[in-house]
Amino acid sequence: MAKTLIVYETSEGQTASIARFIGEIIREHGHQVEVIDVKHIPFAFGLDKFDSFIFGGSVHVNHLPGELKSFIYLNQSLIRHRPSALFSVSLTEATHGIEARAKIENYFSDFLDELDWKPSLTASFAGAIAYTQYGYFKRSLLKQVSRANGLGTDPNRDYEYTNWRAVHTFADEFGGLLN
Ligand SMILES: Cc1cc2nc3c(=O)[nH]c(=O)nc-3n(C[C@H](O)[C@H](O)[C@H](O)COP(=O)(O)O)c2cc1C
Repeated sequence: MAKTLIVYETSEGQTASIARFIGEIIREHGHQVEVIDVKHIPFAFGLDKFDSFIFGGSVHVNHLPGELKSFIYLNQSLIRHRPSALFSVSLTEATHGIEARAKIENYFSDFLDELDWKPSLTASFAGAIAYTQYGYFKRSLLKQVSRANGLGTDPNRDYEYTNWRAVHTFADEFGGLLN
Protein backbone atom coordinates (compact mmCIF):
# COMPACT_ATOMS: atom_id res chain seq x y z
CA MET A 1 0.00 0.00 0.00
CA ALA A 2 1.46 3.31 -1.13
CA LYS A 3 0.99 6.67 0.54
CA THR A 4 0.11 9.53 -1.82
CA LEU A 5 0.13 13.24 -1.06
CA ILE A 6 -2.14 15.48 -3.16
CA VAL A 7 -1.35 19.17 -2.90
CA TYR A 8 -3.59 21.70 -4.62
CA GLU A 9 -4.04 25.42 -4.93
CA THR A 10 -7.54 26.78 -5.55
CA SER A 11 -9.37 30.12 -5.68
CA GLU A 12 -13.07 29.21 -5.84
CA GLY A 13 -12.83 25.55 -4.90
CA GLN A 14 -13.04 23.61 -8.18
CA THR A 15 -9.44 22.35 -7.99
CA ALA A 16 -10.07 21.33 -4.38
CA SER A 17 -13.10 19.24 -5.46
CA ILE A 18 -11.08 17.61 -8.22
CA ALA A 19 -8.17 16.89 -5.85
CA ARG A 20 -10.51 15.27 -3.31
CA PHE A 21 -12.19 13.18 -6.01
CA ILE A 22 -8.79 11.95 -7.26
CA GLY A 23 -7.97 11.09 -3.64
CA GLU A 24 -11.12 8.96 -3.32
CA ILE A 25 -10.33 7.01 -6.49
CA ILE A 26 -6.74 6.32 -5.43
CA ARG A 27 -8.06 5.13 -2.04
CA GLU A 28 -10.29 2.71 -3.94
CA HIS A 29 -7.06 1.33 -5.44
CA GLY A 30 -6.12 0.40 -1.86
CA HIS A 31 -3.68 3.22 -1.12
CA GLN A 32 -3.51 5.85 1.60
CA VAL A 33 -4.04 9.43 0.47
CA GLU A 34 -3.67 12.82 2.12
CA VAL A 35 -5.20 15.82 0.32
CA ILE A 36 -4.06 19.28 1.38
CA ASP A 37 -4.35 22.90 0.27
CA VAL A 38 -0.87 24.34 -0.34
CA LYS A 39 -1.91 27.39 1.70
CA HIS A 40 -2.55 25.18 4.75
CA ILE A 41 0.54 23.02 4.76
CA PRO A 42 2.03 23.18 8.25
CA PHE A 43 5.58 24.44 8.65
CA ALA A 44 8.09 21.54 8.52
CA PHE A 45 5.49 19.18 7.03
CA GLY A 46 7.48 16.01 6.24
CA LEU A 47 7.21 14.79 2.64
CA ASP A 48 9.52 11.82 3.06
CA LYS A 49 6.71 9.65 4.45
CA PHE A 50 4.93 9.79 1.06
CA ASP A 51 5.69 7.43 -1.84
CA SER A 52 4.05 9.53 -4.54
CA PHE A 53 2.76 13.02 -5.20
CA ILE A 54 0.05 14.77 -7.20
CA PHE A 55 -0.04 18.53 -7.63
CA GLY A 56 -2.99 20.46 -9.00
CA GLY A 57 -3.69 24.11 -9.64
CA SER A 58 -6.10 26.33 -11.50
CA VAL A 59 -5.11 28.74 -14.25
CA HIS A 60 -5.59 32.43 -13.59
CA VAL A 61 -4.52 35.05 -16.10
CA ASN A 62 -2.65 32.42 -18.13
CA HIS A 63 -0.63 31.03 -15.24
CA LEU A 64 -0.69 28.04 -12.96
CA PRO A 65 -0.34 29.12 -9.30
CA GLY A 66 2.97 30.45 -8.06
CA GLU A 67 2.59 29.20 -4.49
CA LEU A 68 2.25 25.62 -5.76
CA LYS A 69 5.34 26.10 -7.92
CA SER A 70 7.32 27.42 -4.93
CA PHE A 71 6.25 24.43 -2.85
CA ILE A 72 7.39 22.01 -5.55
CA TYR A 73 10.62 23.96 -6.03
CA LEU A 74 11.48 23.65 -2.34
CA ASN A 75 10.80 19.90 -2.34
CA GLN A 76 11.79 18.84 -5.85
CA SER A 77 14.92 16.92 -4.84
CA LEU A 78 12.65 14.42 -3.06
CA ILE A 79 9.63 14.59 -5.38
CA ARG A 80 11.56 13.86 -8.57
CA HIS A 81 12.58 10.38 -7.38
CA ARG A 82 9.01 9.18 -6.80
CA PRO A 83 5.93 8.78 -9.03
CA SER A 84 4.29 12.17 -9.45
CA ALA A 85 1.70 14.03 -11.48
CA LEU A 86 0.61 17.55 -12.28
CA PHE A 87 -2.91 18.55 -13.26
CA SER A 88 -4.26 21.89 -14.36
CA VAL A 89 -7.80 23.22 -14.10
CA SER A 90 -8.87 25.88 -16.57
CA LEU A 91 -11.61 27.21 -18.77
CA THR A 92 -9.30 26.90 -21.77
CA GLU A 93 -9.79 23.13 -21.48
CA ALA A 94 -13.56 23.70 -21.75
CA THR A 95 -13.15 25.48 -25.09
CA HIS A 96 -11.39 22.56 -26.89
CA GLY A 97 -9.75 23.30 -30.27
CA ILE A 98 -6.15 23.45 -31.47
CA GLU A 99 -5.57 26.90 -30.02
CA ALA A 100 -6.70 25.66 -26.60
CA ARG A 101 -4.26 22.72 -26.73
CA ALA A 102 -1.36 25.08 -27.48
CA LYS A 103 -2.37 27.37 -24.60
CA ILE A 104 -2.56 24.45 -22.17
CA GLU A 105 0.88 23.23 -23.28
CA ASN A 106 2.14 26.74 -22.50
CA TYR A 107 0.62 26.71 -19.01
CA PHE A 108 2.50 23.49 -18.29
CA SER A 109 5.81 24.47 -19.89
CA ASP A 110 5.77 27.87 -18.22
CA PHE A 111 5.18 26.16 -14.84
CA LEU A 112 7.75 23.40 -15.33
CA ASP A 113 10.49 25.44 -17.04
CA GLU A 114 12.10 26.67 -13.84
CA LEU A 115 11.69 23.39 -11.99
CA ASP A 116 14.07 20.48 -11.99
CA TRP A 117 11.14 18.07 -11.91
CA LYS A 118 9.28 16.18 -14.60
CA PRO A 119 5.94 14.71 -13.53
CA SER A 120 5.30 11.09 -14.52
CA LEU A 121 1.80 12.15 -15.65
CA THR A 122 0.12 15.42 -16.59
CA ALA A 123 -3.55 16.13 -17.13
CA SER A 124 -5.68 19.13 -17.99
CA PHE A 125 -9.24 19.36 -16.70
CA ALA A 126 -11.95 21.86 -17.47
CA GLY A 127 -12.94 23.95 -14.46
CA ALA A 128 -15.95 26.02 -13.52
CA ILE A 129 -17.30 29.55 -13.59
CA ALA A 130 -18.37 30.59 -10.11
CA TYR A 131 -20.24 33.84 -10.90
CA THR A 132 -22.07 33.71 -7.56
CA GLN A 133 -18.71 33.84 -5.74
CA TYR A 134 -17.08 36.59 -7.82
CA GLY A 135 -17.00 40.27 -7.02
CA TYR A 136 -17.88 42.84 -9.67
CA PHE A 137 -14.50 42.89 -11.42
CA LYS A 138 -14.07 39.12 -11.74
CA ARG A 139 -17.70 38.69 -12.81
CA SER A 140 -17.33 41.26 -15.62
CA LEU A 141 -14.03 39.78 -16.75
CA LEU A 142 -15.34 36.21 -16.78
CA LYS A 143 -18.53 37.24 -18.62
CA GLN A 144 -16.39 38.86 -21.31
CA VAL A 145 -14.05 35.88 -21.64
CA SER A 146 -16.96 33.42 -21.58
CA ARG A 147 -18.90 35.27 -24.25
CA ALA A 148 -15.85 35.20 -26.51
CA ASN A 149 -15.43 31.46 -25.95
CA GLY A 150 -19.02 30.25 -26.11
CA LEU A 151 -19.20 29.53 -22.35
CA GLY A 152 -21.95 30.47 -19.87
CA THR A 153 -22.64 34.15 -19.28
CA ASP A 154 -25.59 34.20 -16.84
CA PRO A 155 -24.14 35.93 -13.75
CA ASN A 156 -26.91 34.57 -11.50
CA ARG A 157 -25.69 30.99 -11.65
CA ASP A 158 -22.48 28.94 -11.74
CA TYR A 159 -21.32 26.65 -14.56
CA GLU A 160 -19.30 23.46 -14.17
CA TYR A 161 -17.39 22.08 -17.16
CA THR A 162 -15.28 19.43 -15.43
CA ASN A 163 -15.38 16.05 -17.14
CA TRP A 164 -15.42 13.82 -14.05
CA ARG A 165 -14.95 10.72 -16.17
CA ALA A 166 -11.64 12.14 -17.43
CA VAL A 167 -10.63 12.89 -13.82
CA HIS A 168 -11.52 9.30 -12.88
CA THR A 169 -9.42 7.92 -15.77
CA PHE A 170 -6.44 10.04 -14.69
CA ALA A 171 -6.76 8.87 -11.07
CA ASP A 172 -6.98 5.23 -12.22
CA GLU A 173 -3.88 5.72 -14.34
CA PHE A 174 -1.99 7.22 -11.41
CA GLY A 175 -3.22 4.42 -9.13
CA GLY A 176 -1.83 1.97 -11.70
CA LEU A 177 1.65 3.52 -11.30
CA LEU A 178 1.60 2.59 -7.61
CA ASN A 179 0.94 -1.14 -7.96
C1 LIG B 1 -9.94 36.11 -12.45
C2 LIG B 1 -9.91 34.81 -13.22
C3 LIG B 1 -8.97 34.64 -14.23
C4 LIG B 1 -8.95 33.43 -14.96
N1 LIG B 1 -8.02 33.29 -15.96
C5 LIG B 1 -8.03 32.16 -16.71
C6 LIG B 1 -7.11 32.00 -17.78
O1 LIG B 1 -6.25 32.83 -18.04
N2 LIG B 1 -7.19 30.86 -18.52
C7 LIG B 1 -8.12 29.89 -18.25
O2 LIG B 1 -8.16 28.90 -18.96
N3 LIG B 1 -8.99 30.00 -17.22
C8 LIG B 1 -8.97 31.12 -16.46
N4 LIG B 1 -9.84 31.24 -15.40
C9 LIG B 1 -10.79 30.16 -15.12
C10 LIG B 1 -10.35 29.29 -13.93
O3 LIG B 1 -9.21 28.54 -14.24
C11 LIG B 1 -11.53 28.36 -13.59
O4 LIG B 1 -12.59 29.16 -13.12
C12 LIG B 1 -11.19 27.29 -12.57
O5 LIG B 1 -12.30 26.43 -12.42
C13 LIG B 1 -10.81 27.89 -11.22
O6 LIG B 1 -10.51 26.83 -10.34
P1 LIG B 1 -10.42 27.08 -8.76
O7 LIG B 1 -11.83 27.33 -8.27
O8 LIG B 1 -9.86 25.84 -8.23
O9 LIG B 1 -9.49 28.24 -8.58
C14 LIG B 1 -9.89 32.41 -14.67
C15 LIG B 1 -10.81 32.60 -13.63
C16 LIG B 1 -10.84 33.78 -12.91
C17 LIG B 1 -11.85 33.95 -11.83
